[in-house]
Amino acid sequence: MERIDKVISVALNVSRNDAKSYIRKGLIAVNGKAVNNISVKVDEKKDVISFNGNPVQYDKFVYIMMNKPKGVISASEGRSEKTVVDILPQEMKRKNLFPAGRLDKDTTGFMLITDDGDFAHRILSPKNHIPKTYIAVLDKPFDANIVKAFEKGIELKNDVCMPAKIKALDEENRIAQVTIKQGMYHQIKRMFLKYSITVLELKRIKMGALELDDSLAEGECRYLSDSELQLIENGRLL
Ligand code: URA
Repeated sequence: MERIDKVISVALNVSRNDAKSYIRKGLIAVNGKAVNNISVKVDEKKDVISFNGNPVQYDKFVYIMMNKPKGVISASEGRSEKTVVDILPQEMKRKNLFPAGRLDKDTTGFMLITDDGDFAHRILSPKNHIPKTYIAVLDKPFDANIVKAFEKGIELKNDVCMPAKIKALDEENRIAQVTIKQGMYHQIKRMFLKYSITVLELKRIKMGALELDDSLAEGECRYLSDSELQLIENGRLL
């Protein structure tokens, strides 16, 4: 159950004060009956809420998959640089959205944007072992020693990497598919750099067991379903 003024504020993407004023003016109805008490509680799943006669769609939280383009940073709105939240289509924007995890400005691919802090924490915490998979284009080939070292878990300056998987996607070992379970700063670039290899291009293609929807062009996004969210969370079981 949630207070009606909060539901209206989130669903219509207006301030709490505006939501209260709509309620006081009798513009909001619950199950066909106008409400004018701003603190009335509604069941978001069952109650039918309308604004001026039009049904109001209310999702407590939203989960958006974006194919992040280069040149935007993984942050919320209000920064001097363009962020992944800035480039959401207007109709998907609502308060409190943030990217769940970081991709570098020049990294592309699967970015999850949500307003559900608990979910974000669950999928990002290294304790939960949820794998994130990337394709890295390298300036030099990697070899079997690197595969072994990544699988054992390498040390970077002040960080210890958990075991990571790596396999070649081409004959020359210059295109690597890498799976890691942490999200440390520049992690994949730093892992390769330890072996004097530069990552030229990086794209995230999977979170947990959910792959980036390849029908999304760079910069495009769509909502995720409950079963897709489960694929992310259950990825660690695979
Ligand atoms: N590792 C990196 O180096 N960069 C990213 O954006 C993600 C993982």
